[in-house]
Amino acid sequence: MPRVKDILQTMEYGPAPEADDHVVAWLDRHADGFTHYIDGAYSAARDGASFAVTDPARSVRLATVAQGGADDIDAAVAAARRAFPRWSALSGHARARYLYAIARHVQKRERFLAVLESMDNGKPIRETRDIDIPLVARHFYHHAGWAELIESEFPAFGPIGVCGQIIPWNFPLLMLAWKIAPALAAGNTVVLKPAEFTPLSALAFAEICREVGLPAGVVNIVLGDGATGAALVAHPGVDKIAFTGSTEVGRHIREATAGSGKRLSLELGGKSPFIVFDDADLDGAVEGVVDAIWFNQGEVCCAGSRLLIQEGVAERFYAKLKRRMETLRIGDPLDKSTDIGAIVAPVQLARIEELVEQGRREGGRVWTVSAPLPAVGCFYRPTLITEVDPASTVAQVEIFGPVAVAMTFRTPDEAIALANNTPYGLAASIWSENINLTLDVAAKVKAGVVWINSTNLFDAGAGFGGYKESGFGREGGREGILEYLVADWDRAAAPAAEVAPFALSAAPAAGTVGHPATLPPIDRTAKLYIGGKQTRPDSGYSATVFDVAGAPFGQVALGNRKDIRNAVEAAAKATSWSSVTAHNRAQVLYYVAENLSAREAEFSRRLAALTAQSLESAAREVAAAIARTFWYAAWADKFDGAVHATKSRHVTLAIPEPWGVMGIVCPDEAPLLAFVSLVLPALAVGNRVVAIPSQAYALAVLDLYQVLDTSDVPPGVLNIVSGEREVLATVLAQHDEVAAIWYAGSAPGSAAVERACAGNMKASWVNHGRGRDWFSAHAGQGREYLRHATQVKNIWVPYGE
Ligand code: NAI
Repeated sequence: MPRVKDILQTMEYGPAPEADDHVVAWLDRHADGFTHYIDGAYSAARDGASFAVTDPARSVRLATVAQGGADDIDAAVAAARRAFPRWSALSGHARARYLYAIARHVQKRERFLAVLESMDNGKPIRETRDIDIPLVARHFYHHAGWAELIESEFPAFGPIGVCGQIIPWNFPLLMLAWKIAPALAAGNTVVLKPAEFTPLSALAFAEICREVGLPAGVVNIVLGDGATGAALVAHPGVDKIAFTGSTEVGRHIREATAGSGKRLSLELGGKSPFIVFDDADLDGAVEGVVDAIWFNQGEVCCAGSRLLIQEGVAERFYAKLKRRMETLRIGDPLDKSTDIGAIVAPVQLARIEELVEQGRREGGRVWTVSAPLPAVGCFYRPTLITEVDPASTVAQVEIFGPVAVAMTFRTPDEAIALANNTPYGLAASIWSENINLTLDVAAKVKAGVVWINSTNLFDAGAGFGGYKESGFGREGGREGILEYLVADWDRAAAPAAEVAPFALSAAPAAGTVGHPATLPPIDRTAKLYIGGKQTRPDSGYSATVFDVAGAPFGQVALGNRKDIRNAVEAAAKATSWSSVTAHNRAQVLYYVAENLSAREAEFSRRLAALTAQSLESAAREVAAAIARTFWYAAWADKFDGAVHATKSRHVTLAIPEPWGVMGIVCPDEAPLLAFVSLVLPALAVGNRVVAIPSQAYALAVLDLYQVLDTSDVPPGVLNIVSGEREVLATVLAQHDEVAAIWYAGSAPGSAAVERACAGNMKASWVNHGRGRDWFSAHAGQGREYLRHATQVKNIWVPYGE
């Protein structure tokens, strides 16, 4: 008699197809082709162009859709602009009702949307039904809540304007929700371009917008490819671009928007580590890998695609994993028991095949399951590549397919080094029964999202987004809604007054300079301040600074590229500043205030002599700088994170972490106060800073060296390089070790910094040549500064047996 165990092992599943009749009927109704959705109406491409959309699992045409050109983008942006005044003037409560209605309608059409998404993308119905569509609804509900609370929670903020949103094909409707829900909640209007492979669920969403009576022009959808996206990015009527997709395109967008004043949030690629320690629950971790890299065919930006396995358990782990891989069912995405559906398109399949071959050539051991693939369609078997060199292509490049690469490590430190050995920093998954170890590793891994003993968990209440070349900005939670708001003082800022820069002296740095007897004496040349020491500039040059009467006042050292490099190196080494207690940092900042206060009169005299202001007004600036130092000392131990309310039996910790090394370029206006207002918040939260002071009035700032020396500021925590600001700013922006840069100066200077940031996709905060009231308690200081000085890491910690 056959044993039950044997039957279970040999038993084949029968097909369990999900009905597609509603979707097929909908597609039939649009057999003439889908058009853009602009100003609340359907609108054919102005030039009549179109392209085909294909079901990748069956290799059949599903629909023909319009291909948007610049004219279509123009019409959509104009519609969004027209709609903006009324939409943004609605009460938060009114907007909440629309978002709530959208969420309800998504739920009412959930099966339709799940089937459509599966057909368009190739992903299994089990995932669209249980993950994508429920998360879409959750996102709109959550943001209906933010719309309701927007006035009370963000009283000094308003919407940005028209948002251009470009999304990828891997989670088409979910990415739409991540973009549109917060934008609308905050009062913005949008033009969204879905990916060319998967535009259909966005068109179903347009129908929902009509059903709920969303005012015309609030949501516009323009179909098309990369050229359509590029036209949206370039359009002058757009105030913000939000993009999810490849790092390569993200870099283009950074360059294309540089200097335009458009705000930018980028959610880019990843090569996320999946770390298994030898005390982990190995069976649990194997299931984790399945969710990490075989969820959505591995076409997931935060896929756990790099397995780092502790050496002692590696062979056992691989054996278990291979056994589990053999049970994965590949095939019809509409079959309810399918685990692995189709790859989105032939071009993506070819890319995966090519990368795996490259992995083989570079010495990796490629292992794949034995199951046959369907005769038609774009399918790829779950694949594991072991013995991968950490520097090899497959260990570094995003494969974006069902392919895990694996390597081993011996110690936690080695695991962290390997985990961080990538330009990306989107996510990480850490497996160990030792919670102390997992939290320690979570803190050290450079990733925006960390899952402990879990993986690929998402919720509208938690922020999602990357570190390093995985982009900047967050989607979800409080941190996500802030990406669609602008502070009132920022919106109101007018262009700053121009200040003539100092003349360049050709003479080598001299020991002293002459000065009229009426001025305070200058008896030395101000040097650079690097690694806690006053150092001569590498160039050996200095520049003469003149006082308000035009008389030579002193000389400022002219730093160059090498000085910036040295300063960054010193800042990079000063890591202990980021790990000491916040109380400790506060104490140092209070001490700075104390020592500055002791020299208040001297600083005031110097400021008055250099700038066109009375002694009284200079004294006011120095007093404000002292008060501001106190203010950030007070904040140092209070800018803490949150525990987000996400899934049950999970703690989701949102921790604001310092960037590491920051570059800060200071303006000429209120030179001392502006310097303190920019540098202090960055230091308060644990960054190390390389600062470039005002070019015209550097001497008003450089005496801070003595204040720093006497205030226990550790060497390398604050480095100051004076000189030609615009030149130094670009060098700083290009430096790979600098994680974020702030720039307050001219409009062309802002553009140059943003462009230079495309190199390693560093986050930037520039003023586009606009002035700021540094004395104001709203504009000159505040949580906005602390927010820009940090990036949020979300750590998911499950609990319970
Ligand atoms: P992609 O980055 O080219 O496409 C994403 C979106 O950007 C699409 O809507 C596309 O039309 C648009 N786009 C393309 N070029 C543009 C431009 N110059 N300006 C504005 N918008 C533009 O990604 P693609 O080619 O579909 O996939 C290539 C690789 O990118 C994948 O193999 C994967 O490694 C990565 N990728 C990463 C995603 C993520 O979520 N991080 C999503 C999609 C792709």
